Amino acid sequence: MMRLMWVGLVVLLGSVGIGVYWSHDGFDPESIRGATVVITGCSTGIGEEMTYQYARLGAKILITARRENRLKEVVAKAKSLGAQEAHYVAGDMGKAEDCERTIQTAKEKFGRLDYLVLNHAGSSLGSVDERAAKLQTWDQDLDMDFYADFVDINLISYVRLASLALPLLKESSGHIVVMGSLGGKITFPYFSYMTTAKFGLDGFFGALRVELMKTKQNVSVSYVVPGFIRTAGAEEMVKKLPGGEKMLETAAPVKETAYTIIRGGATRTREIYVPSYTWVISRIRMFPGWLQDYLILNVFSP
Ligand SMILES: NC(=O)c1ccc[n+]([C@@H]2O[C@H](COP(=O)([O-])OP(=O)(O)OC[C@H]3O[C@@H](n4cnc5c(N)ncnc54)[C@H](OP(=O)(O)O)[C@@H]3O)[C@@H](O)[C@H]2O)c1
Ligand SMILES: *[C@@H]1O[C@H](CO)[C@@H](O)[C@H](O)[C@H]1NC(C)=O
Repeated sequence: MMRLMWVGLVVLLGSVGIGVYWSHDGFDPESIRGATVVITGCSTGIGEEMTYQYARLGAKILITARRENRLKEVVAKAKSLGAQEAHYVAGDMGKAEDCERTIQTAKEKFGRLDYLVLNHAGSSLGSVDERAAKLQTWDQDLDMDFYADFVDINLISYVRLASLALPLLKESSGHIVVMGSLGGKITFPYFSYMTTAKFGLDGFFGALRVELMKTKQNVSVSYVVPGFIRTAGAEEMVKKLPGGEKMLETAAPVKETAYTIIRGGATRTREIYVPSYTWVISRIRMFPGWLQDYLILNVFSP
């Protein structure tokens, strides 16, 4: 009996120790106070929520999206929550000049840049959510104009913005946070355009990360691997799917997701898995091909 209690105690202390070790990432919320942050895609969703959380931590924020009326509201709320400064640039990140204007404005307003959070997602050719909800294969719905535009907005503009911001980020030993996806680690049917962009981001920013290390430049690169996050947009899309209501129950809350990303960016975390189950699912790439295909087709595909 005594022995069993000792074993129990050792196991308990051991697991608490491991838990503390894993959760201790040295995040100091105070490090965000006064930090300068550019976030893209903030008129709604995870970007909007990250804006409010950076604001509460006392950051100086510049946000972008296309809808100016929404940006005005988000900036006003960010100020009321405690942002030291909050500005917006209304623009289309698919356009080179709007990317240039965004980074130029950050330079003029702040004179330095600590965080570049690349988060926007969309298409200039209609709603991506509506397209996604149709669950059609590439072959059933192939549209090269949509594809090229999607890659421009969701991949090339991320590279452009990071390239424009690098001189500023180097000066301040800054951070780049890239919103990837579980669809940037494993491939799903019906989302070929999305997996193209998200794998592409992992490819480009993975190379940039090691190049920065190799040339001893102190700019960190974090690639975020979100699972299904309960944003208004995601909710709309999923409701149109068969069994969508059930899927919603498994979606992760936006608030926790935004906090995990901010924390991971600040602690220079290489890859941010949120919720953490996305780490486990990403590991299926290590399995033999036939098993990967079986799991994708029978377990993980909508
Ligand atoms: N929600 C999820 O379950 C989930 C899962 C995996 C990955 N992610 C990734 O996480 C990020 C945020 O997702 P979310 O669900 O929060 O997205 P969302 O709700 O659809 O918001 C996307 C934001 O991007 C902006 N945007 C779209 N096209 C733009 C353009 N051409 N130029 C500038 N801004 C543009 C939109 O604003 P305007 O329309 O006003 O321009 C909006 O503010 C994305 O990179 C997404 O791929 C999300
Ligand atoms: C890199 O920058 C961070 C601050 O963002 C700093 O804590 C760290 O010491 C720097 N590392 C090197 C090698 O200069």
